[in-house]
Amino acid sequence: MRKHIVAGNWKMNKTFEQADDLINEIVEKLETTELDRNTLLILCPPFPYLEMTSDYANDSYFMVGAQDVSSHKEGAYTGEISAAMLDSMDLDYCIVGHSERRQYHGESNAMVAAKVDQLLKHDIKPIVCCGEVLAERESEKQFDVVKQQIVEGLFHLSAEQFSNIVIAYEPVWAIGTGKTATPEQAQEIHAFIRNLIAEKYGKEVADNTSILYGGSCKPSNAKEIFAQADVDGGLIGGACLKAVDFLAIATSF
Ligand code: 13P
Repeated sequence: MRKHIVAGNWKMNKTFEQADDLINEIVEKLETTELDRNTLLILCPPFPYLEMTSDYANDSYFMVGAQDVSSHKEGAYTGEISAAMLDSMDLDYCIVGHSERRQYHGESNAMVAAKVDQLLKHDIKPIVCCGEVLAERESEKQFDVVKQQIVEGLFHLSAEQFSNIVIAYEPVWAIGTGKTATPEQAQEIHAFIRNLIAEKYGKEVADNTSILYGGSCKPSNAKEIFAQADVDGGLIGGACLKAVDFLAIATSF
């Protein structure tokens, strides 16, 4: 049975002290929160807070992920963080191909593929983002766009490698805008993605792949979205910055 996953992408938010407070509050609240046994909680704070977050994770019920990784192995790449470095800190997950990386840092599908390869070499599970911008949705190109992102970013993998992939469908027009995809819109694309995976890797791999929804997901809409047959959880931005909201979402299955 595929996992339910709720991952919090902190993006570029919180000072060190605020980060400490937030994780502390999440740990405290988790003591009295009934998480479904099949639900995985992942915190993806900024790089400088990964070590602190991992320390907390040792005594709690969540896993830790990074928000990005270099497509290079090592060397003269000032400011970059390699998969080997993340591995040496025992990280479990890493977001790749977020629309903000694609939009502001020119991350192409080929770069996504290279980053995924680096992570898999180090046994870190990639959370690979895909999703269309508003103009693409308005011209009904969302299926073509998402298909191209997945085919070019992931379909060079073997079935065994692919079994480590988590996919996050994040329509760009819904990110940080307060506009959420309707549950039907989310289900339609999630089913489309699962079908693509089934065609390439077979039904078993497809059935075992967790596909998350992201984009203005909050406590008031999570239940309805997560109730869709092919939605296995969420990649949460704004709402993960408040412990109470993040955990309300994590218990919305
Ligand atoms: P929001 O939840 O703030 O819309 O962000 C979603 C997102 O981009 C998560 O990666």
